Amino acid sequence: MAQPPELCPIYRDALRICRPFIVAPQVHWEHLDLAPFGIKVPKSLRIDPTVLASQRFLTWIERLDAQTFGPQAMAMERWVFYDCAEWPSALFGLAARPRDISPMLRERFEVAPQEKVWVPLSLHVAIPTVAPGEFFEHNVGSLGQEAGLKGLGTFTKALGCRVLRARTLVGAAQWNGRALTMHRRFGPLELLTAFTPAHSYPRTLTYRHGTDAALLGRVLEDKAAPSVESTQLVKVDERGLIGLQRRIERGDRCTLAGPLVERARGLYAPIRVAT
Ligand SMILES: CC(C)(COP(=O)(O)OP(=O)(O)OC[C@H]1O[C@@H](n2cnc3c(N)ncnc32)[C@H](O)[C@@H]1OP(=O)(O)O)[C@@H](O)C(=O)NCCC(=O)NCCS
Repeated sequence: MAQPPELCPIYRDALRICRPFIVAPQVHWEHLDLAPFGIKVPKSLRIDPTVLASQRFLTWIERLDAQTFGPQAMAMERWVFYDCAEWPSALFGLAARPRDISPMLRERFEVAPQEKVWVPLSLHVAIPTVAPGEFFEHNVGSLGQEAGLKGLGTFTKALGCRVLRARTLVGAAQWNGRALTMHRRFGPLELLTAFTPAHSYPRTLTYRHGTDAALLGRVLEDKAAPSVESTQLVKVDERGLIGLQRRIERGDRCTLAGPLVERARGLYAPIRVAT
């Protein structure tokens, strides 16, 4: 087996106080990689949602989701976690001891500093699609900013993909959202849609990127993604995005080639179009 990647400093820092967890029925655990890149999920953090003892942890997951997705009105009901994620797939994330998080976070999770429990600070949910090895990234949430841990979202996403043994990842993200910077670390991102009326927010893009061990290892070592030359700048407004969507529908292969660019006239996306 290839050597595990040498974690870059901020991910090593996160592991000083965080441990990985999974939430999945015990009958599915054998299908998961419970030591992604050698980082073992402790037995006490293998959470089975079908048993009563998991109730408090599942409440914390719901609170984590409400804190990260609530402001965008996209928080999930508990039954959605159970039906659409915990049974068909697995939740993955990083958790910390109450003594290692801020009083504000302890208050939100209703835990006392001396309690010997683990509270979830980040979450990755990807659901298998009918295409073998392909997963849809349904949720990445992180309280890294509140917990003073840089890069927690990226770290969680990379390990979460490995736990599921995903080969490719598809997901939806808003053009103006903070998450796009995180997804780009796994890039370049192939665009499957640029304007998406099927989503509650049509200014959503659908991306695809690989998740093989070499790519995830590169992210964990913080090595730059392979560069792609853009062929045009597309304005991130309804007209620009619909134009790009039409090209995708015509069969052009479009890739987000770099970070969005702020200009006096608005925000632009550097796109590589291959016809
Ligand atoms: C999007 C989200 C998951 C990002 O989580 P995060 O913990 O802030 O994680 P990131 O990995 O993006 O890293 C945060 C910072 O660390 C930096 N970072 C990440 N990896 C790094 C590395 N290897 N080396 C140095 N810096 C790194 C990032 O550039 C970013 O820096 P900035 O704050 O100066 O911009 C979080 O903001 C969130 O929960 N948002 C709400 C829910 C949401 O929109 N989810 C995405 C749905 S698609």
